[in-house]
Amino acid sequence: MSGDVVLITGGGRGIGRHLAREFAKCGTKKVILWGRTEKCLKDTCEEITLMGTECHYFICDVANREEVYKQAKVVREKVGDVTILVNNAAVVHGKSLMDSDDDALLKSQHINTMGQFWTTKAFLPRMLELQTGHVVCVNSILSLSPIPGTIDYCTSKASSLAFMESLTLGLLDCPGVGCTTVLPFHTNTEMFQGMRVRFPKLFPPLKPEVVAQRTVDAVRTNTAFVYLPWTMNALVILKSVLPQSALEEIHRFSGTYTCMNTFKGRTAGFWNSVITSTDQSYGLQQSG
Ligand SMILES: NC(=O)c1ccc[n+]([C@@H]2O[C@H](COP(=O)([O-])OP(=O)(O)OC[C@H]3O[C@@H](n4cnc5c(N)ncnc54)[C@H](OP(=O)(O)O)[C@@H]3O)[C@@H](O)[C@H]2O)c1
Repeated sequence: MSGDVVLITGGGRGIGRHLAREFAKCGTKKVILWGRTEKCLKDTCEEITLMGTECHYFICDVANREEVYKQAKVVREKVGDVTILVNNAAVVHGKSLMDSDDDALLKSQHINTMGQFWTTKAFLPRMLELQTGHVVCVNSILSLSPIPGTIDYCTSKASSLAFMESLTLGLLDCPGVGCTTVLPFHTNTEMFQGMRVRFPKLFPPLKPEVVAQRTVDAVRTNTAFVYLPWTMNALVILKSVLPQSALEEIHRFSGTYTCMNTFKGRTAGFWNSVITSTDQSYGLQQSG
């Protein structure tokens, strides 16, 4: 990876920050961080620079198409061609459909799904020209096994999985360019704070550093799909062979059916600020 320039969306904190560390450890030439919160981006950028890897950060809301294209141009001019794009940025607001503000529902689709369309359109063409590149998506096991209480997030992740499945097949005949989709189980970051499964000892949350390590390994080995932990492969098999009634019993027994009841996530203030600050960029009207 010594010649690679990696761009990580949502690289300021959580799994994104660990990904920046992992790519730096692997000797990546340059790391670029995108996000909306300057403090997190700056802190991570300083840490990566101290590790001896050239690092840059840019404020960019991935849901804002114009901003993505504009910042992608700035990146190309100031830093160079991106050869590894990591679509990691996402939000969750953790409410049922009826309790959700309409704009919040739209925004999770804009950030978690549409953001990938814009970033991939911005960077993939140059990877194809150079015949070297990799598009990575940090997805979620909830894309395959949705739960109540976070319907917009599950929908956005399922849609994002379809995007990656299509892209992965579409790039089969493109030499040097590959895709990786990582589907982690609950991971210990601020994102799903408060969420409780019934048997936490049996299903402990993943460490973000482990998710980051496995993601970088998958890029190095050009692995298309990675379920984390590996036991999640069983879920895929169970879903395809068991009847819906049996799956419902598993959801009830394991507590995934109610695990979002204790969800706290980030503060309501965070979501209000997201709604207010991004309304104009999506051309949305506040509802209610
Ligand atoms: N935590 C889990 O349990 C879990 C499980 C499976 C999959 N995942 C996936 O892992 C990825 C990282 O999640 P995490 O746990 O690290 O969550 P996190 O700590 O909340 O980090 C989310 C990152 O996304 C960025 N982001 C959010 N909206 C953005 C926007 N509009 N434009 C640019 N950046 C934006 C945030 O930065 P700013 O707020 O500064 O913009 C932040 O850096 C996500 O795709 C998530 O769906 C997480």
